[in-house]
Amino acid sequence: NRVEKAGYKHFMAKEIAEQPVVIADALKHYTTAEGTLRLPEGVDFANVDRITMVACGTASYACHVAKYWFEQIAGLPAEIDVASEFRYREPPLSPQSWALFVSQSGETADTLAALRYASGKVARVVSVVNVPTSSIARESDLSLPILAGVEIGVASTKAFTCQLTVLALLALKAALDRGRIDAATLAGHLQSLRNLPGLMNHALSLSTPIAAIADDLAKAQDILFLGRGAMFPLALEGALKLKEISYIHAEGYASGELKHGPIALIDAAVPVIVMAPRDALFEKTVSNMQEVMARHGKVLLISDAQGVAEAGAGAWRTLTLPDMPPVFAPILYALPAQLLAYHTAIAKGTDVDQPRNLAKSVTVE
Ligand code: G6P
Repeated sequence: NRVEKAGYKHFMAKEIAEQPVVIADALKHYTTAEGTLRLPEGVDFANVDRITMVACGTASYACHVAKYWFEQIAGLPAEIDVASEFRYREPPLSPQSWALFVSQSGETADTLAALRYASGKVARVVSVVNVPTSSIARESDLSLPILAGVEIGVASTKAFTCQLTVLALLALKAALDRGRIDAATLAGHLQSLRNLPGLMNHALSLSTPIAAIADDLAKAQDILFLGRGAMFPLALEGALKLKEISYIHAEGYASGELKHGPIALIDAAVPVIVMAPRDALFEKTVSNMQEVMARHGKVLLISDAQGVAEAGAGAWRTLTLPDMPPVFAPILYALPAQLLAYHTAIAKGTDVDQPRNLAKSVTVE
């Protein structure tokens, strides 16, 4: 069953474009048309005191976003670590807690070793994987497939947004089980998620303006990504994606940390990509962005129409995404980040699907 590029120049382009369809598939699988959840038996957070999430690479940034959701929506303490640190730092684990492992391949050696460390120490070892027959899936007490379909591009795209979608559903289940939300609120959140495929199609239609911006980004030596709240991990993911395939040095920062270091890097040669939907922290992000502009940094503001109208003046470029409730906006904002990386790599002429020195699945330590 060979997977083809289906007319796309690269697997990565195909996989980016597939996101509206695979997200809709995952939502169809795990939710009902009536606005309720359909998660496997055993996904019950009633007596869970903490969730520890462990992963590598892009999957770890999905966990990073999910930490905001588990804490803010469900009031459940959530911890995250990269697997290579987790497995050796001897973290004490509560027997009432869940350990959750997120992996596209389900074969990443560090993540598997971290899972084995947690086994027997927690109430439940859960995994969120793309390959349901993988070692991580098999060794978990409970495994939820993300249903992204085969992902070939080394830089993970559709697996990331499918991971986020499944993690969002888990956070909503935790909120329900812990009495933080009622059935009507849940139905509202699920409706927001069901709107995602349509909004993603809109985001994908920005590919041409994004390619034009990327032509300029390709000339940069360093690029900063900024975000706050659940958009901070998106800044990390945007920077990772860009460096993986374009080989341009990029860093993601929490906007509020700008003044504690990265602002020293800002000059007219450094593009700064600000991911800022109009959420509760918008004004704060904008003031961070203005600090960049005052130092002649080239700001690309990615926001919704109102955000761009309010704060876009003085920015080098803006990108306008459709409105959506801020809580799940990271799933949508992943798409422009992916497209920026993709088009920058194209402009640089690098090998998009097989970047140097990287492997799709790292099965050795
Ligand atoms: C490699 C890949 C990344 C991926 C990471 C974790 O570094 O190049 O795209 O995010 O491994 O892989 P996993 O299969 O565990 O999600």
